Amino acid sequence: MALSTFAKLIREAGDRSARENGAEFGAGVQTCLAMALGRLADYSSSLCMWAPAGEFVAHTFGRQALPMVWDFAEVNPLSDTGWNGACEWVRRVLEATSEAKLSPGVVAQASALNQPLPTDSVDATITDPPYYSAIPYADLSDFFYGWLKRSVGTVHRELFLSETAPKDEECVALSHRAAMYRQKDASWFEARMAEACADSRRITRDSGIGVYVFANKETKGWEAMLGALIKSGWVITASWPIDTERGGRLRAHNSAALASSVHLICRPRTGFEVSKNATEIGNWRDVLHELPRRIHDWMPRLAQEGVVGADAIFACLGPALEVFSRYSVVEKASGEAVSLGEYLEHVWAAVAKEALALVFEGADATGFEPDARLTAMWLWTLMSPDSSSNSEGDNELEFDDEADGNKPKTGGFKLEYDAARKIAQGLGAHLESLTHLVEVSGDQARLLPVSERTKHLFGKDEEEPARTTGRKKSVAQLDLFVALTGSEDAEIIWKEKTVKRLGETTLDRVHQAMILFAAARGEALKRFVVEDGVGQDGKFWRLAQALSALYPSGTDEKRWVDGLLARKKQFGF
Ligand SMILES: C[S@@+](CC[C@H](N)C(=O)[O-])C[C@H]1O[C@@H](n2cnc3c(N)ncnc32)[C@H](O)[C@@H]1O
Repeated sequence: MALSTFAKLIREAGDRSARENGAEFGAGVQTCLAMALGRLADYSSSLCMWAPAGEFVAHTFGRQALPMVWDFAEVNPLSDTGWNGACEWVRRVLEATSEAKLSPGVVAQASALNQPLPTDSVDATITDPPYYSAIPYADLSDFFYGWLKRSVGTVHRELFLSETAPKDEECVALSHRAAMYRQKDASWFEARMAEACADSRRITRDSGIGVYVFANKETKGWEAMLGALIKSGWVITASWPIDTERGGRLRAHNSAALASSVHLICRPRTGFEVSKNATEIGNWRDVLHELPRRIHDWMPRLAQEGVVGADAIFACLGPALEVFSRYSVVEKASGEAVSLGEYLEHVWAAVAKEALALVFEGADATGFEPDARLTAMWLWTLMSPDSSSNSEGDNELEFDDEADGNKPKTGGFKLEYDAARKIAQGLGAHLESLTHLVEVSGDQARLLPVSERTKHLFGKDEEEPARTTGRKKSVAQLDLFVALTGSEDAEIIWKEKTVKRLGETTLDRVHQAMILFAAARGEALKRFVVEDGVGQDGKFWRLAQALSALYPSGTDEKRWVDGLLARKKQFGF
């Protein structure tokens, strides 16, 4: 009711202003007030939650979704959070943009598949295309479309011709979401996206540039986007992760979500060939030869710039893809064309190898067993530039320390399965043979927290908690977190024992030492490191050192491995 009334009043205000100040000014006033109405709508739905930390009402689109919520806070539309606040924001934007003295732009609504600009007419196309299957943009747009159409539809008729936001040509892979999107699967996305990129290529001069922003945590999404770019005559020459999101954004947990959006920098292939004198058909052997060199040169530069983790992997895509996409096709000796998917497997491998060299600071990472390499690379992928200092709880990693026997296990470090598989493959490791380290469930893979590896590392004896009076039933076996809450509990769960079976791999031995430290078994730890000779191995300490740099701060793992390292001297190493 309030929104409808505001919409009516906005139309009236526009009309009056047009009569008094001319049509153009009236249209401006009406449009700005309609923007404020959009903000008011954003604060007036039953999805607005109370944000207790800041004591305010949070708006509907804290993230690009309409999630189910249990309760909502209702805003008084005439309050400062309501209409007044909405107008205030619009005023601030108007003021800032007029101070910036920008030259006026032209906005037109058109499909990217058919852009209303002549061929070879622009020096740059800069676009933020849809991110594969991540967001149903047009559906979400309908939340605002109706209110805009009512309040300002008469002023911008050409923008509001349809009943709801246009959806038919929207390039999104949403076939899994609803029957109406049945045809919009991965190949549909790639084909439409290629058409859109080709149309951008058409309007761009040969000497021009294309910038495509992309963010996606699914490797499938990346392959589709990159495939579309290559097919449509662009050469990808660089990729830069740029922070485009406001810090407080609600982020998805459990995932290696990007800290930034990757900007893919492209050049028209025609223009590129002229300058680089390349031929249309690339030789697979040459491409494979050049790839590792490219990554090797690029990685240290990224590290210098503070680009680490998943961001660095994606930042390597540009240079890696330049090697591949400068040809319209790359062929093997047999004449068979190499698919982008196959090339990307090599890219992940080359990136993993370089990243590990950085993680182990020049030490030959191949000296470590696959489990250590996988762990290091996994943690590195999850790193974000501020992960070592971030303590605001807005970390991508979920580390569940409320180990409750009834709850599904959710701790550990999660990656999308496909990304994990590619990393493993790049390192010559197989997830299937590392079930004591990684758990795969659906499309998620979880690097087990060290506490959950106790059973594997110590065998049955240690895992069995000794029952004593005063403690009801059995304590969840691997529940070190409970064990560590007090020394008494630790006594109950951990009997003073020597480690009967030394871990098979360096990683296993480091984890054993971490657990002994965690369980306050000082004597056992000393025997393990000194008498059993585990500490004699330089690799043991090198890996512990690398892990200390990789485990996110605030995690038990970080504390435990640092605890172990702090005793190195004391143990005489
Ligand atoms: C990543 S969003 C852009 C967000 C924008 N940069 C912003 O900050 O609001 C991608 C947009 O492309 C739109 N889109 C998808 N297919 C399109 C097509 N064929 N033509 C034009 N736009 C399309 C989506 O509906 C969505 O609004």
